[in-house]
Amino acid sequence: MAILFNETKSIFSLQTNHSMYQMKVDKYGVLLHTYYGAKGVPFDYSYLITYADHGFSGNPYEAGDERTYSLDALPQEYPVYGSGDYRSTALKVRYPDGSHACELRYVRHELQEGKYALPGLPTVYATEEAPADTLVITLEDTRKLFYVHLYYGILENLDLITRSVCVENHDAKVLYLEQALSCCVDFQHGDFHLHTFYGRHMKERTYQRVPVCHGVQSIGSNRGASSHQQNPFFMLTSPQATEDTGVCYGFSFLYSGDFLALGSKDQFDQTRILMGIHPDNFCYCLEPGDAFYAPETAMAYTDQGMGALSQIYHKAYRTNLCRGKYKTARRPVLLNSWESVYMDFDGKKLIKMAKDAAKMGIELFVMDDGWFGKRDMDVSGLGDWHVNENKLGCTLKELSDEIHALGMQFGIWFEPECINEDSDLYRKHPDWALKVPDKAPVRGRYQLVLDFSREDVREHILEQICQVLDSAKIEYLKWDFNRSISDIYSALLPPKRQGEVAHRYILGLYDMLEKLSARYPDLLLEGCSGGGGRFDAGMLYYTPQIWCSDNTDAIDRLSIQYGTSFGYPISAIGSHVSHCPNDQTGRITPLETRATVAMAGTFGYELDTNEIKEEEIPVIQKQIEEFKKYYDLIQNGHYYRLTNPEEYPICHGWEFVSPDKSEALLCIVTLQVQPNIVKRCMRLKGLCPDKIYLINGEEYPGSALMNGGYLVPYATTEYESFRIYIAEKK
Ligand code: GLA
Repeated sequence: MAILFNETKSIFSLQTNHSMYQMKVDKYGVLLHTYYGAKGVPFDYSYLITYADHGFSGNPYEAGDERTYSLDALPQEYPVYGSGDYRSTALKVRYPDGSHACELRYVRHELQEGKYALPGLPTVYATEEAPADTLVITLEDTRKLFYVHLYYGILENLDLITRSVCVENHDAKVLYLEQALSCCVDFQHGDFHLHTFYGRHMKERTYQRVPVCHGVQSIGSNRGASSHQQNPFFMLTSPQATEDTGVCYGFSFLYSGDFLALGSKDQFDQTRILMGIHPDNFCYCLEPGDAFYAPETAMAYTDQGMGALSQIYHKAYRTNLCRGKYKTARRPVLLNSWESVYMDFDGKKLIKMAKDAAKMGIELFVMDDGWFGKRDMDVSGLGDWHVNENKLGCTLKELSDEIHALGMQFGIWFEPECINEDSDLYRKHPDWALKVPDKAPVRGRYQLVLDFSREDVREHILEQICQVLDSAKIEYLKWDFNRSISDIYSALLPPKRQGEVAHRYILGLYDMLEKLSARYPDLLLEGCSGGGGRFDAGMLYYTPQIWCSDNTDAIDRLSIQYGTSFGYPISAIGSHVSHCPNDQTGRITPLETRATVAMAGTFGYELDTNEIKEEEIPVIQKQIEEFKKYYDLIQNGHYYRLTNPEEYPICHGWEFVSPDKSEALLCIVTLQVQPNIVKRCMRLKGLCPDKIYLINGEEYPGSALMNGGYLVPYATTEYESFRIYIAEKK
């Protein structure tokens, strides 16, 4: 059992292979947080807490004249609004009398073997190699209306601790949860840096590092999706932490909707971290006997730097979050029609491209947007998921059969959650879109969002999707979502439940994805939201890969994929070679460089094969062969960031190393060609210092490559890249 309970001292110590997390029930029944960090000798870390008489920090009634006891200063496990703790808190409840004052006290706890699950929500799961234990601590509010069950999942071998919360109304009156976050960690001592990933459409997950200062620093989304603008993964590190050294904590939210992540330093220099559903669009009505489950947060700790922290998440998400056939099966190299022909195609054009693609070794042909309803532009058609045979000039089955006859698989694009007003579905069911009565809704890309909190709406869309999937052989589905949500109102819910719509929408989305994958277990699902607008751990539970960005420019992608790699495995990152000049930036990069960058992901192509020059065909063939050869190393190996593309403008490097350290792939992209040769050197990571490695026939000890480094080949053309295979000498 990874959970130790010291009954005399009322201490819970949760232990993973390298970390420990500790809590203590104190004499008043308050659950204090005492420690999160390196694993050591089991010990009561509450000695670190200072009790002092602080002006304007009140005392709970039971403390009597003990003025040194204040929730405003103590490190707590699940702080609540209205308890005399004036910092940002995790829970805010509106009582039946309209008041918010609330305090929680320990009632009981339970240890369970295995990992808890949450109804309708994604969670990390246990496996034979990575078993889990669960601890549930139950607190009750002092007015005795509800319980708060705190869930902890300990995945010892993965160095991961997961958190969730269930609020259960056991009274006879209705309560309102105005905020119910999933996780709080109070750090009493130390200075920290906060690392977040901001962006916009076509520039997702840009890395930012700032010191945690006094006051509140928060990121989040109230767009109904996890968003391009901020990502629900962040790191908290010591100010000195680097890629390879130092104390690092990770917080990853397994949720695809609104989120809030917050770091704050209080008046006593203590740092509080909070993570959960953003309260902006949230107010949950809890009827007597009802329970609300907050989504899961996965926390990790290491003292080995940010690279090691990333590797914890990479492994955990690959093996204990992603599911289905493609968790392990090799994903096919694909050609997507979007940046190839956009919506301007018919069946003949697609078949011609598929023929070219098959010759080059491409394994899956994906027909993107434009095949259904009335859809030659993005102003109409969404909602009418029936094949436009007039446009294709054939049935879907005929198209798919021809593609299969070429030895390729066939895939298709959907945007199930959205609807154009110019569609038969909207004309029939205008109330199915999210809209507030008597207010014109905000449009995004000429479209509205369907009310996925409604089962009837979801069923209708799922039925349409199934009809398409059943009509032809289809092995891949891209699930897109191309706008932010607004006008959050569901026609079926009473006013008191409108604050639940945004969350119910996400539960509806998950319900539909679950049903779809249960019905088509072999279907490869790729998530997408205008590129990476919903790139989160919640989606990875349903779709093992997510289109990373609508920006396919290889140089811009360096920063986007660099930022993404902190919290997500390479196997999740959808990345394609597109044509040049690039459609988003106009930049021209070598074909080989575009492949080098796309290989740090799921790898595929997104260009019109008619534009490919004769001499480029063998190059592409070779790239595909190479990717297949390195597939295991890339997708299942250890990934190392060697430089930060924002900081080092000369060249950018990364590396994959096989778990047994017998082979590696070093990838370098030149950012600046410099005249009058200045040699650059890349220090490799993760090799075995004593092993001898071969690079292009030359022998190097691992220690030389890691300490001295490898001389970067001299680039003679702009943006030239290098893929350097390193193998142990046998
Ligand atoms: C989004 C996706 C693209 C493409 C288009 C189709 O922008 O990110 O890859 O599928 O939609 O409209």
